[in-house]
Amino acid sequence: MTHPNQIVPRALVAGNWKMNGLRSSAVELKSLADKVSGSEDPNCDILVCPPATLIIPFSQQNISSAIEIGAQDCHTNEKGAHTGDLSAEIIKDAGATAVIVGHSERRTDHGESSELVREKAQAAYRAGLTAIICIGETQQQRDAGETLEIISTQLSASVPAEANASNTVIAYEPVWAIGTGLTPTEAQIGEVHTHIRQCLVQSMGDEAFSIRLLYGGSVKPDNAREILLIENVNGALVGGASLKADDFFGIISVYNT
Ligand code: PGA
Repeated sequence: MTHPNQIVPRALVAGNWKMNGLRSSAVELKSLADKVSGSEDPNCDILVCPPATLIIPFSQQNISSAIEIGAQDCHTNEKGAHTGDLSAEIIKDAGATAVIVGHSERRTDHGESSELVREKAQAAYRAGLTAIICIGETQQQRDAGETLEIISTQLSASVPAEANASNTVIAYEPVWAIGTGLTPTEAQIGEVHTHIRQCLVQSMGDEAFSIRLLYGGSVKPDNAREILLIENVNGALVGGASLKADDFFGIISVYNT
């Protein structure tokens, strides 16, 4: 499903480092920045989401204006008595421009509901951050033929009414594909991404054609091309393969050739 005027949003390749990375990992960011600066316009936006402790050093040492730094989660409130949490404002102050919300690992490990995810996305907007809202079905839901229904439900509950193409990115991440080396077929990815586009068009009209829809789950340099060329896939959210500059740049380079 494409816009009648063929509007295709600029792609985004985002790396989610999860709970990996020390200050010494700055060498990977430097190596990535060198690769990006040394190549032609990458033809996509690039985001690295390290552990929160690395947001400040990474945003300060970042030598490439083409790479932005993001966070992996935020609290819904601006400040207050929430031991161990970070607000969207704190993350923004540290140098982040975006925050991932509703990753399936947080939905599972911390019991986050879609309603909470929506409030986190609203907190991101309040602080001036882009919210990368994650959705996706489990293996059991796919086997039961419920994928599209789950996606519709998660979208309508997780995406705030104020969402637009500049403050929101949607990441489709089938839970069973995350960190497993398994990926859906091209037809399965295409089906879900088209469905997401249709749902967003219904809720927000033509604006939906400009929203970036990322695919995430076992994206690697050797499968990136086939995945990123699927209609309505406007980039990737990459876990394991974003930890090594060579692998991550291999994925980014798909947009360069
Ligand atoms: P993966 O993780 O690329 O390691 O499968 C993706 C994600 O969880 O965002």
